[in-house]
Amino acid sequence: MDYLPIFVDIKNQPCLIVGGGAVAARKADLFIKAGAKVTVVAPELKTEMKHHLAEGLITWHPAEFSTAVMERLTTPKYVISATDDQAVNQAVYHYCQAHHIPVNVADQTEYCDFILPAIVDRSPVTIAVSTGGRSPILARLMKARLESLIPAGFGSLAGLLGRYRQQVKKSLPSPGARKAFWETLLQSAFVDKAAQGRSEEAESILKAQIKQVEISGQPLPTGEVYLIGAGPGDPDLMTFKGLRLLQQADVILYDRLVAPEIVEMARREAERIYVGKKDKAHLLPQGDISLLMVKLAKEGKRVARLKGGDPYIFGRGAEEAEVLVANKVPFEVVPGITAAAGCSAYAGFPLTHREFSQSVALITGHQQEGANEVDYGRLAQSGDTMVFYMGVKNAPKIQQGLLAHGLSAETPAAIIEKGTTANQRVVITSLAELSETIASSHIKPPALLVVGEVINVRERLVK
Ligand SMILES: C[S@@+](CC[C@H](N)C(=O)[O-])C[C@H]1O[C@@H](n2cnc3c(N)ncnc32)[C@H](O)[C@@H]1O
Repeated sequence: MDYLPIFVDIKNQPCLIVGGGAVAARKADLFIKAGAKVTVVAPELKTEMKHHLAEGLITWHPAEFSTAVMERLTTPKYVISATDDQAVNQAVYHYCQAHHIPVNVADQTEYCDFILPAIVDRSPVTIAVSTGGRSPILARLMKARLESLIPAGFGSLAGLLGRYRQQVKKSLPSPGARKAFWETLLQSAFVDKAAQGRSEEAESILKAQIKQVEISGQPLPTGEVYLIGAGPGDPDLMTFKGLRLLQQADVILYDRLVAPEIVEMARREAERIYVGKKDKAHLLPQGDISLLMVKLAKEGKRVARLKGGDPYIFGRGAEEAEVLVANKVPFEVVPGITAAAGCSAYAGFPLTHREFSQSVALITGHQQEGANEVDYGRLAQSGDTMVFYMGVKNAPKIQQGLLAHGLSAETPAAIIEKGTTANQRVVITSLAELSETIASSHIKPPALLVVGEVINVRERLVK
């Protein structure tokens, strides 16, 4: 280890920055965030540092660095020199060495008593990444990865844990029992509720668990379900939150439209159950899937239910959620990129555009028995961009319905097969030709039908 990572309290401590440019301003920003009293010595300030000055975050001494200037200042606890002038940087370094003040000369490790790591700031949770000054870019890339893994609200989570630490210590004097308690809690729905700022709900879980261990010595089983939208096909379209919950699940339930790469991202030891549905050949009836989730959660398992696109858009997510509610199983819904948004973007056109369409309708082309018929009259008059899910088989009916209610036969239509995947196929036609085009192009599911003038924008965007 080249450097010892320590976290230093510099609140209200005098710290000095030599230099008024952009790099100096970035360093000053770190001191400011940690609550230091920051003085800047520089003959002039560039924009970012001027901004700090205008905000009253720094004190400025408009002068070149010199021993005489230093003698007029309160001795700083830490000094950073970030100037373009090597002679000034050297002078700062030698001054600090002579006066035993820790110093950092930006980008010159040989003149650093301390180095500033790349920081993931979820205060009070702080992660520092250092490459020992060898590659700040590598440190920044690692920071970027960590940023994507650690939820933004982890600060409030840590705050809440801090508030209950003593109480848990009192209720559970044995360190082993305490460890088990925190481990169980920190792998449950409590974490997301606290991180999302739903502190009342999080606190009630925490209090219930404390009560439970006081009575029985054991926390309650923390089985729960995550209804995760896995996006339309490209595995990169999964959300950070979806990925994080997937990776803490013990059992994964997934269906046909979920990219295999996403299922692969689960923990290796997680059990994977395929509950895919094919038209007319449902592998597991919907009710059985919901009850299977209830059973697994009641056994204390964390269940990730992966659904193509978004769980609440033609995904029957709400039906599953209702069963979970009825059975008192805690659950989280993680929205996903729905096929309409993903497929149109990958096919090269938007869903709305100021010139062509001010609204979008998402419509199922496959009605359940007894469901209301699609109101083609309203759609034809609406000016909506129409996106039909599960519409390929019923394309002739959709086409007739819209034409019969006066939508122009020239209206552009797009068929997007396996949208956002490596096998995506986009076929552009008109409403008049829709059914014939589907038949002659041998379109296979999953495919999305889009009808609307907005498809014309594709000509401007796809070269
Ligand atoms: C049962 S719905 C599920 C929709 C999903 N919940 C969503 O938000 O995208 C399935 C239909 O979505 C459409 N679909 C889903 N993924 C698609 C893709 N990658 N390409 C084209 N259409 C897709 C097809 O119309 C398919 O028949």
